Amino acid sequence: MRCQSNNELEALVEEAKQQTKYGKVADYIPALADADEDKLSVALYYPDGRCYSAGDTAENFTLQSISKVLTLALALMDRGEEYVFDHVGQEPTGDPFNSIAKLETNKPSKPLNPMINAGALAITHMIVGESVEDRLQRLLSFIRKLSGNPSITYNQIIAQSELETGHLNRSLCYFMKQHGVIDEPVEELMDLYTKQCAIEMNCLDLARVGCVLAMDGADPVTGEQIIPWDIARICKTFMVTCGMYNASGEFAIKVGIPAKSGVAGGVMGSLPRKCGIAICGPALDDKGNSIAGIKLLEMMSKKYSLSMF
Ligand code: DON
Repeated sequence: MRCQSNNELEALVEEAKQQTKYGKVADYIPALADADEDKLSVALYYPDGRCYSAGDTAENFTLQSISKVLTLALALMDRGEEYVFDHVGQEPTGDPFNSIAKLETNKPSKPLNPMINAGALAITHMIVGESVEDRLQRLLSFIRKLSGNPSITYNQIIAQSELETGHLNRSLCYFMKQHGVIDEPVEELMDLYTKQCAIEMNCLDLARVGCVLAMDGADPVTGEQIIPWDIARICKTFMVTCGMYNASGEFAIKVGIPAKSGVAGGVMGSLPRKCGIAICGPALDDKGNSIAGIKLLEMMSKKYSLSMF
């Protein structure tokens, strides 16, 4: 599948790109600091297989927090809704993505939702498999199916870089282990989580994943139900309430599309029953979301009346 370059989209990308100078690439994961701050690209994938793009959409980027939506889907398929939400809550936090604060004040101690780091670590813990490698391979096969790209894998350098420096995430794990939310060795969970976050793809792949969620979990090409519809619905709802962290409310008003961001600058959008959208723009705002990506989505939403509300 190739994506058609689109002039109207190219013009929007050029305009939104102006914002990159006000943002900054994530550098708390050292290997992410090398990303090109000025880049911006977008792809839209429709259920009939049409695809439009602008910018350098062939370039790979790591999913980072976007992977949290996909691990949530897999954990729900593996364990069922009751088990998952016995261990992780369903409420937005209003805090930054890596905050530890609510873990301590919320009683009984469980992470408030699956999109913040604490909740995502607890969700990754739930993925079924004999070993870290087995669980990783199950996740990769799932993502290869969603993207329609059998060659998707993870970036070893970025995974290793986060494994070596992710002490805040380690502390979230230890806190949760103390309170019985997780019970596996912290280093094993960190190993799986950092590899999951380092899974990489390009905008076309990601727009297709967004499209599967938009189509209630059905593959747009084969019609296969990859994710049960009720699980796809839960994922999209979390994308609305928590997908852009403590900017989710403003994003819902200005853009109105279920979306999930990652610190490598990716954003995946799933416009229910309409299309999947993927953006990559590594310069981030102070909440950890792609600064030009958000501007571009605002402009697209206005121009094409995309808000679902
Ligand atoms: O755990 C982390 O901090 C990263 N691997 C992912 C965080 C992230 O992408 C937050 N997104 N905006």
